[in-house]
Amino acid sequence: MRTKLNPKKIKKYLQNPAEVIVFDEIDSTNNEAKRRLTSAPSAPLLYCANSQTAGRGRKGHSFYSPSDTGLYLSLVLPIAGQMSDIQTITCAAAVATAGAIESLCPVTARIKWVNDIYVNGAKVCGILTELLVDKDNRPAAVCVGIGVNLTTEVFPEDIRDIAGSIGTADRNRLCAEITDRLIFQYAHLSQRLFLTDYTDRSMVHGREVLYTDKDGEHRATATGIDRDGGLIVNENGTLSTLRSGEISVKLSDSISPSFK
Ligand code: BTN
Repeated sequence: MRTKLNPKKIKKYLQNPAEVIVFDEIDSTNNEAKRRLTSAPSAPLLYCANSQTAGRGRKGHSFYSPSDTGLYLSLVLPIAGQMSDIQTITCAAAVATAGAIESLCPVTARIKWVNDIYVNGAKVCGILTELLVDKDNRPAAVCVGIGVNLTTEVFPEDIRDIAGSIGTADRNRLCAEITDRLIFQYAHLSQRLFLTDYTDRSMVHGREVLYTDKDGEHRATATGIDRDGGLIVNENGTLSTLRSGEISVKLSDSISPSFK
């Protein structure tokens, strides 16, 4: 049986104080977080849903959010500290989520820069971070939207080749575990506590990657991540740092390698 999200159970598992709001169905938990914010929250706010009818991904993509087989949440955290630190929340969220998944499921969770999580070569989680402004248009909170596929088996055609699921897990516990780990990482962003774990979990380090910028298509080797979450790449001996955008990573060294 698929267990529904339940605010009382989530609160029971949570170690940190947070307001928890659960929807059976919503367009997007990130949209709801945006709609509800009028001023900076005093404590973390957690919006989660059993399904989303208009789940959003990065770059205007949609996020497939079927009923009860995934976990869809948005954690709204008050702005605290330097913006240069807060901008690294995206990498920290990937580390928090990967660790939470591994604590509840017998899988190895790897990170594809910037913040997609892969299990057994398939994308099982996406993260969409947005800055929320108050009614006077001042930055008031950061909203980290996280979607995890647990037992989804059939995906829409356009993502069928890359999407996968982590397997059965208690969604209430997973929700609390991700939230606690993310709150912890957020409190320590200035120390970049996520960096070592991020590097260890990276599925792109040492691999050939493809990316496109204003100068066209590039093929380079990913060599590391900098303090601000930028991906350092080496293209024919020249080092550069990618700050945004999408990369594809070469997944095998066979004669006909595939890029994801
Ligand atoms: C991506 O893969 O491009 C990011 C996907 C982020 C999906 C999550 S699900 C919860 C939250 N609500 C949304 O509409 N999007 C995020």
